[in-house]
Amino acid sequence: MKVQAFTKSARNSKTIALSKKIIKLKQEKDAVILAHYYQEEAIQEVADYLGDSLYLAQQAAKVDNDIIVFAGVHFMAETAKIINPTKKVLLPDLKAGCSLADSCPPEDFAKFKAKHSDAIVVSYINCSAKIKTLSDLVCTSSNAKKIIESIPKTQKIIFAPDKNLGAYLNKETRRNMILWDGSCIVHEAFSFEKILSLVKNYPKAKFIAHPESESPILDIAHFIGSTSELLNFVQKNDANEFIVATEVGILFEMQKSCPKKTFIPAPVEDDTCACSECAFMKLNTLEKLYNCLNEETPEIQLDSNLMDAARVPINRMLELS
Ligand code: 13P
Ligand code: SF4
Repeated sequence: MKVQAFTKSARNSKTIALSKKIIKLKQEKDAVILAHYYQEEAIQEVADYLGDSLYLAQQAAKVDNDIIVFAGVHFMAETAKIINPTKKVLLPDLKAGCSLADSCPPEDFAKFKAKHSDAIVVSYINCSAKIKTLSDLVCTSSNAKKIIESIPKTQKIIFAPDKNLGAYLNKETRRNMILWDGSCIVHEAFSFEKILSLVKNYPKAKFIAHPESESPILDIAHFIGSTSELLNFVQKNDANEFIVATEVGILFEMQKSCPKKTFIPAPVEDDTCACSECAFMKLNTLEKLYNCLNEETPEIQLDSNLMDAARVPINRMLELS
């Protein structure tokens, strides 16, 4: 099995020149760039705020710039727009979707919800605005446990759309939430067998995983957490080697903040693909980021009634976080 430790790729002069243009333009336009850890390195470096889904939603609620460029996927930019209905929210590539959000079509979910009329709905933020309107509470992987624990134990809960995160939360909170059958293609691509043999070959390494991964993988992890929690863990833990099961973009910030440590992306089932890269996240490029800031398009546009309804469970999450 070919294992490659993560190394920072060289930045070329074109990237540096484009980054400078973006920084100048965002100052001229008083725009702010929010970027998720799964974005390409050059985008992470021009961001004003870099973080996980919760941190970015919290920053979106705080910033006072008129233009927000969201370097992430559609549901993230949509959330920023719902929180800031009067601001211009731009997404470098409108096709930057999410397999997990797509795995929960609103019409099907509404029927599922109707079958469990005594249950409340907690939805993972990785879902469409329409699903948020069908939810009582929203959560991210950073605050999911806290949100679930804020609900009385006797209350029936539907958790959607991620069945892997839901199963993990059921275990952690000793609940029996009803799970929607959705998942993330990136976190389901990891190979249990290959990870097991890598862990054996690196006995001193800590194996860490995002809770969107499947349960056999989570069962052998030394630590489970959201992207920010994984980052905090590698910064504080004494180990020098880490095998990381989440989208490979986070390794850039891990390596930057711990230059002496070694980070190994967890292997995926299919050796022929870069499956631990989220193809949706990677649709955004530095060039598209520049163009969208320059032309102020593509812009997230949503119906105001939809935004009003979707804002309710998002605000509940922000208050509880
Ligand atoms: P977090 O940002 O909550 O770690 O979630 C990861 C993810 O899959 C975002 O798409
Ligand atoms: Fe969606 Fe998975 Fe990509 Fe996150 S990593 S945006 S959950 S497909």
